[in-house]
Amino acid sequence: MSKNVLVLPGDGIGPEIVAEAVKVLEWVNDRFGLNIELNEGLVGGAAIDATGGPLPEATLNAARNADAILLGAVGGHKWDKLEMALRPEKGLLGLRSNLNLFANLRPAILYPQLAAASSLRPEIVSGLDILIVRELTGGIYFGEPRGIRTREDGVREGYNTYIYSEPEIERIAHVAFQAAQKRNKRLCSVDKANVLEVTVLWREVMTRVGAEYPDVELSHMYVDNAAMQLVRAPKQFDVMVTGNMFGDILSDCAAMLTGSIGMLPSASLNDQQQGMYEPIHGSAPDIAGQGIANPLATILSVAMMLRYSLQAAAAADAIEDAVSRVLDAGLRTADIMSEGARKVTTAEMGQAVLKALNE
Ligand code: NAD
Ligand code: IPM
Ligand code: MN
Repeated sequence: MSKNVLVLPGDGIGPEIVAEAVKVLEWVNDRFGLNIELNEGLVGGAAIDATGGPLPEATLNAARNADAILLGAVGGHKWDKLEMALRPEKGLLGLRSNLNLFANLRPAILYPQLAAASSLRPEIVSGLDILIVRELTGGIYFGEPRGIRTREDGVREGYNTYIYSEPEIERIAHVAFQAAQKRNKRLCSVDKANVLEVTVLWREVMTRVGAEYPDVELSHMYVDNAAMQLVRAPKQFDVMVTGNMFGDILSDCAAMLTGSIGMLPSASLNDQQQGMYEPIHGSAPDIAGQGIANPLATILSVAMMLRYSLQAAAAADAIEDAVSRVLDAGLRTADIMSEGARKVTTAEMGQAVLKALNE
């Protein structure tokens, strides 16, 4: 039976990096006989320009019917002045919530070849392998009420609601504990339970669910300390689980430990293992159109897609191995460049991965 992958390049560097990732996906499709059918759609600013809204009905329907989605990035200055509901980012958030993609897996793995590109000393990051499990369809991103209002005294105020229900916390807890079981069996839950009631409940539920996983060692950490520990001694972590906003922030931080935000892939999964796959970075307006963005996070997202949604682990392994060999050969986009390496463009990096796959 054929599998259906929806490709959503989006904005900024999105189309540039997705083009390279699609070449890799087509290559493994062919070589491993995966029977994947690719379709392309509009999301974000590209969709706003073409249809007036960031998530056209056609895209949402195609996404619902897809086995997996590959997304580049959305957003850009051109659309920054639009009201919140019409912004490119709403296209991405709408996909996440409509498809119920509550479990966001963001692995931060340091390729040993990139130790010199990390902003931390090699001995602090060498061997780094962390998995951040971020809740993706709740928390302050989606809580109601929200808005900007004018008080009776004429003062304007902005407000959002940080809310999690017990079932929402339970289901992400199970994902995180099960991920930890397959790794080094340590789970750190990150919260702000010293200040925010919503995370008092979060901590309580994590602890309760933890009783079902006696083989996993659960610890709790406040988010401010977690941010500090990530740059002090990141190897103390195995799996981290946290809410939507803390996970957003901590994963950008963890990305830099691996050399660049251009290295971190992600999977966003629902209960049916349907998934959306995207680099964790954004549309990088500052370098868009220059052909210099790092496509590896997107290419590695394809590997995650093959593993989690398309049951093609061998193809995923082949891609990850090819990326490693390209790094061995000293090829680097500007963001991971270091002394003695050879600087390449986005397209050259994509070509190099294809060549490594062919060898
Ligand atoms: P960003 O991640 O786009 O860029 C931050 C910095 O990292 C920039 O200097 C950029 O050049 C660099 N960078 C990012 N990806 C890179 C890559 N692959 N190779 C080399 N360098 C890379 O974050 P931002 O600047 O805060 O946001 C820009 C836009 O992207 C905003 O509109 C934002 O809302 C959006 N955004 C979208 C997503 C997404 O689609 N998933 C994620 C984050 C931000
Ligand atoms: C990410 C991005 C998104 C988020 C934005 C663009 C909505 O930063 O995927 O990390 O905050 O989740
Ligand atoms: Mn982010």
